[in-house]
Amino acid sequence: HHYVAIMAGGIGSRFWPKSRTSYPKQFLDILNSGKTLIQWTFDRFTNFIPTENIYIVTSEEYVDIVKEQLPGINPDNIVAEPSRKNTAPCVAYISYKIAQKDPEASLVVAPSDHLVLDTDTFEKVTLQALDFAAHMKSFVTLGIKPTYPNTGYGYIQHETMPVAENMYKVKVFTEKPDLEIAKTFIASGDFLWNAGIFIWQVSSIIKAFEKYQPEMNELFATEKEKFNTPEEKAAIERIYPQCTNISIDYAIMEKADNVYLIPASFGWSDLGTWNSAYDNLEKDYLGNAVAGENVMIVDSTKCMISAPDNKLLLLQGLDDFIVVDTEDVLLVCKKDKEQEIKEYVAEVKRNK
Ligand code: GDD
Ligand code: MG
Repeated sequence: HHYVAIMAGGIGSRFWPKSRTSYPKQFLDILNSGKTLIQWTFDRFTNFIPTENIYIVTSEEYVDIVKEQLPGINPDNIVAEPSRKNTAPCVAYISYKIAQKDPEASLVVAPSDHLVLDTDTFEKVTLQALDFAAHMKSFVTLGIKPTYPNTGYGYIQHETMPVAENMYKVKVFTEKPDLEIAKTFIASGDFLWNAGIFIWQVSSIIKAFEKYQPEMNELFATEKEKFNTPEEKAAIERIYPQCTNISIDYAIMEKADNVYLIPASFGWSDLGTWNSAYDNLEKDYLGNAVAGENVMIVDSTKCMISAPDNKLLLLQGLDDFIVVDTEDVLLVCKKDKEQEIKEYVAEVKRNK
């Protein structure tokens, strides 16, 4: 009864210019590791979940990319959403779809665009979570030891006494706090980052939707008999325009009271920015990190460089820069000014 839903509908805006809305981060090999992030994610699960139980939920426009990158998956397991509504509708949809087939299914909901270095620990922890979630009819989250007040993550505080080995009841789940609050969370030493991976039985998460998102739930519940039949597409096209755009973190996790946490360390990184890519890459003796086969560096230190293999990039005299070359865009940006890029990109798009 073990299932996985890999969420792959995000647009990965922070890895511009390598990541584009038409070809976002999860479909890229950001670290030049030989596989794209979604390929790594899929492979990580095939180690311990039957391939026929692994689903990819993504936007319609990415279905062909998924087929191309994951030739081993049955096309029926690629689930297309007609519009971008964030992760709550995505979870509701896949949960109802799997529940129609297997009411006792236990489900891992996972992002498609993260880095996990220690796959053995990841497998162990996920299997423990699946087991616990099924027995306790509860939700399990995975908590990562935080290192700085990142405002893009969820923060989880748990009870001090474990309820089972390495398993704690969650006290508070706060999604994307503002900087001041994030700082107090970090200072308290009492919060972990939400890894964005959730484990539960489909029956439990459906109950939570009934309770905390009754309107959205109603949309899916009324059409559920059509899932896994030829009428599914039409049903989903009726449902999605009516769904609120909201993430599972705000929609359910902040509200639910039966949430548990496993403190986990399996070499996790959200790989959210070029700086985090830099942190996860090997550096040369001057601290430069290079993703690309055809890069020559002279008299430069601590740069993050990403370049296509079919183009020579020669760099001289830069310290602490991000340099990202693509077919049509070249980005050269001070490493500590990376957050500002977003604004400029928005402007470029407006002017086009
Ligand atoms: N199918 C589908 N549809 N997938 C989506 C959609 C959607 O509308 N929106 C986002 N996704 C996918 C993304 O591609 C990503 O793999 C995953 O869902 C999570 O979405 P993000 O948009 O990346 O979420 P986040 O990073 O802001 O926050 C989440 O992850 C953090 C850890 O990285 C939250 O769960 C945080 O609490 C958590 O700390
Ligand atoms: Mg993310």
